[in-house]
Amino acid sequence: MSRSLRTALLAGLLAGLLAGSAPALAAAPLELRPTPEIDLPFGDDIGFPAGPGSDVIASNCTACHSADHTLNQPALSREEWHAVVDKMITAYKAPITPEDARVIVDYLARVKGEP
Ligand code: HEC
Repeated sequence: MSRSLRTALLAGLLAGLLAGSAPALAAAPLELRPTPEIDLPFGDDIGFPAGPGSDVIASNCTACHSADHTLNQPALSREEWHAVVDKMITAYKAPITPEDARVIVDYLARVKGEP
């Protein structure tokens, strides 16, 4: 047997071995997915239209849900917004100072108040 034929047979044998073990590898597929890019809202992107108090509501009312969650509500009266903010503080334990709560109610009454 010539040297090159032996090399070719050996290569074929190796390829066969590798091919034979391929199904075992395929049985446990390891799927690597690219890390998704997450665009965290920042600054004005946070969703509350800029204006007096928008910074206060942005920093107090986006820890648990989006700004949209608040803004997509129907327009409410000042008393109703007051009740919502109160509920966030008492029922859901939002750590909001009474002073910030007042600023937030003012903001919501202006931006999403009843016409
Ligand atoms: C500690 C977490 C937390 C914070 C901070 C928070 N919320 Fe909420 N909020 C919730 C939960 C929980 C719900 C009820 C679940 C839902 O509706 O998906 C909710 C629901 C709401 C709703 C939907 C209507 C309703 O009455 O349920 C509005 C509007 C809202 N929040 C506004 C606000 C505003 C304004 C602030 C800032 C003053 C705020 N949230 C801060 C947890 C929070």
